[in-house]
Amino acid sequence: MRQSSLVVVANRLPLDDNIAPDGACEWRRSPGGLAGALHAILEQTPATWVGWTGTIGEAQRLPDLGTLRLCPVSLTEAEARGYYEGFANSTLWPLYHDAVEPPVFDRGWWETYRSVNRRFAEAAAEVAEPGATVWVQDYHLQLVPQLLREMRPDVVIGFFLHVPFPPPELFMQLPRRVELLRGMLGADLVGFQRPQAAHNVAQLAAKLLDARGADDAITLDDRVVRTGAFPVSIDVAEMRSLSARPYVVNQARRLRHDLGSHKRVLLSVDRLDYTKGIEHRLTAYSELLRDGRLKVRDTVMVQVAVPSRERVENYRGLRDRIEGEVGRINGEYGRVGEPAIHYLNQPFDRADLAALYQTADVMVVTPLRDGMNLVAKEFVAARRDDSGALVLSEFAGAAAELEDAFLVNPHDVDGLKETLLHALAADPGDLATRMKAMRSYITANDIHAWARAYLTELDLARSLAL
Ligand code: ADP
Ligand code: F6P
Repeated sequence: MRQSSLVVVANRLPLDDNIAPDGACEWRRSPGGLAGALHAILEQTPATWVGWTGTIGEAQRLPDLGTLRLCPVSLTEAEARGYYEGFANSTLWPLYHDAVEPPVFDRGWWETYRSVNRRFAEAAAEVAEPGATVWVQDYHLQLVPQLLREMRPDVVIGFFLHVPFPPPELFMQLPRRVELLRGMLGADLVGFQRPQAAHNVAQLAAKLLDARGADDAITLDDRVVRTGAFPVSIDVAEMRSLSARPYVVNQARRLRHDLGSHKRVLLSVDRLDYTKGIEHRLTAYSELLRDGRLKVRDTVMVQVAVPSRERVENYRGLRDRIEGEVGRINGEYGRVGEPAIHYLNQPFDRADLAALYQTADVMVVTPLRDGMNLVAKEFVAARRDDSGALVLSEFAGAAAELEDAFLVNPHDVDGLKETLLHALAADPGDLATRMKAMRSYITANDIHAWARAYLTELDLARSLAL
């Protein structure tokens, strides 16, 4: 295997599951923030991406994507169950998202998580050239930094957590808390979405590892680990140019016509995940219809909920509940040829998503907890004029940056109802001021700025450590 000076290690490769018979493959742009964000910066950089294809069994050789080499890691059925569906997505994911669903602590999953993390670390060690930079991503691979440091002390190791890092009271519930914390702190720089996460980790490191912890540096075993907040972003220029394409503009026009040109459109776009607050949102909308404060003759909701982690029990239950509720709302409030909600449980390509963003009067992004939420940023980037309102949860990382959104506590259904009405009734001048401010913020803080900030700090962290 050829070696690279930059290696990204992430659970998933950004690759389409369907490889054509001639072996050609395309960027998958999987419905998830991580692959989309990194895809934007790695497409033209000589680098290697170590990750899982999402399929079970022996990993096949994959062609390069431009200057990016793909190094697939294979998972057996039992490993996918224990590591991905189990420890990553049934223990860490709920715990890191405020335990909005109870985390499951299954002792069998831990061994699998550890052995799969070792496999990722070995793959990274093999493809990293001497002194390379290895950038490990997210909660699936929290043990990789320390494992890799033991295998390859010469490489510079970064770790970035795309999801929230929980408050100490929650993290302390984890049976394997010491190993997980130590594993992550094997990096030279640990990056988070929000400064509070660095604060939480510093407190935990002092308590559990006897480290000296500050919010920007932790001293552990005579080594200094830098920490800090680096809010992830999107490729604003790409979304803007996509949005100006004739296909997208025409598609947006057609969708507006099909939805009813005179109607106000409420749009939500999520992975079908219990952290995204879809049920709370449906309750708010349904009560507004029930109370006659919104009417189907002049308002319509579009809920895109792309299938996600479908083999995990909680996700299947959620889908059933959402589909039941959408059916109930349409049954009670819809009219012939005029549903109250259009529910789309399917993936869309980027151009169609951009067109959808342009059709919304109000974009409703109301997760109960979210590391960042890139959909909120995509909506702002996709708008071609200054119309449109963004209703955004205070519990999304994006709320700290998009302060001109209509911020809302999604747990407070009455507050959510009032905020939806407020956004629908907002004065165009107010909306324009808000949209301009948000656009200018994301333009200055795009995905390239994020990668530059992180990698510059990583260089610095390493040079200070030498
Ligand atoms: P998460 O990482 O939790 O999925 P984000 O909002 O940060 O949440 O990222 C979601 C990403 O998935 C966005 O880039 C969005 O465009 C994409 N996405 C969401 N829904 C769909 C869909 N139906 N089809 C394709 N991509 C989608
Ligand atoms: O943002 C969190 C995250 O787990 C990312 O790592 C991933 O891009 C996204 O959600 C989608 O999840 P999955 O890879 O499980 O489909």
